[in-house]
Amino acid sequence: MRVLELFSGLGGWRCALRDRGRVAAAYDVSEAANATYALNHGDFPRARELAAVPLHELAACGADTWLMSPPCQPFCRMGNHQGLEDRRSRAFRHLMDLFSQAPPDHLVLENVGGFLGSDAHALLSRHIKAHGMHQVDIQACPSHFGLPNQRPRVFIVASRKPLKVLSQPDLPPRPLADFLDAVEDEGLYLRAEAHTRHYQGLDLVEPGDHRSACFIGGYGRRFVGSGSFLKTEHGVRRFSPSEVARLLGLPEGFRFPGTLSLEARYRLLGNGLSIPVAAWALDHLRPRQAADG
Ligand SMILES: C[S@@+](CC[C@H](N)C(=O)[O-])C[C@H]1O[C@@H](n2cnc3c(N)ncnc32)[C@H](O)[C@@H]1O
Repeated sequence: MRVLELFSGLGGWRCALRDRGRVAAAYDVSEAANATYALNHGDFPRARELAAVPLHELAACGADTWLMSPPCQPFCRMGNHQGLEDRRSRAFRHLMDLFSQAPPDHLVLENVGGFLGSDAHALLSRHIKAHGMHQVDIQACPSHFGLPNQRPRVFIVASRKPLKVLSQPDLPPRPLADFLDAVEDEGLYLRAEAHTRHYQGLDLVEPGDHRSACFIGGYGRRFVGSGSFLKTEHGVRRFSPSEVARLLGLPEGFRFPGTLSLEARYRLLGNGLSIPVAAWALDHLRPRQAADG
């Protein structure tokens, strides 16, 4: 696969790709995301507004596969549910225009559950069908892949080749203790005031637990509904960015630019992909024997 990584963020699709192919070009408008991507993967994504990228520019990359994670807020449980009407869907709409003119051989799109049945899902499915391509819609959560983290997501997989839905692994989640930093950052502990104010609403977990809630982009600022908090003998603290990165299955040693604030690190991670789940979605594009074996 020669891949266009669209809305590339910190490069989750590139991590999931491994030996399945290589990235011809990545695109993201965020400076923080692109600096993090470059630090970890060596290449700088194109800092371009995808709502205006011309077809000839994408075609010049010579990619046969589009991997994309468009903004999920228009489809989120807590979002406005405006789908294609939301201004954050402009780039997706534009990419759908380009897709209808010159579709790649394969496409995988990742998003939240609310994408299924949305107007954006219908638009994409219409284009896939119009080009005689095959499509499977799959759903998975890292908690079935050995990771103690909830992050249910949908993947729309399209290809010129016939597709078959692969069974999901059913690995029991490991304990959170396996994902914690060797040395705790004491600055992550909640101060007395925040602790008293938010304690009732916090999703509390302990190192021996085998679960954590989905970490969202606002985890660095919000307390309730943004991810789990860890209860230890010293108090209650946030998970560190490197712990969240491990829970997403990012490689050990995944780094952030030193200048990036804690909040910005959580924002990038909260937008990210669960790597083993994305890799499983990509396996749907492999030749049948390779995926089955
Ligand atoms: C859901 S995140 C994708 C995360 C990515 N899959 C990862 O592994 O980190 C969406 C990304 O799209 C970028 N983005 C949003 N709108 C964009 C646009 N119009 N043009 C280019 N990039 C955009 C954001 O900066 C963000 O990094």
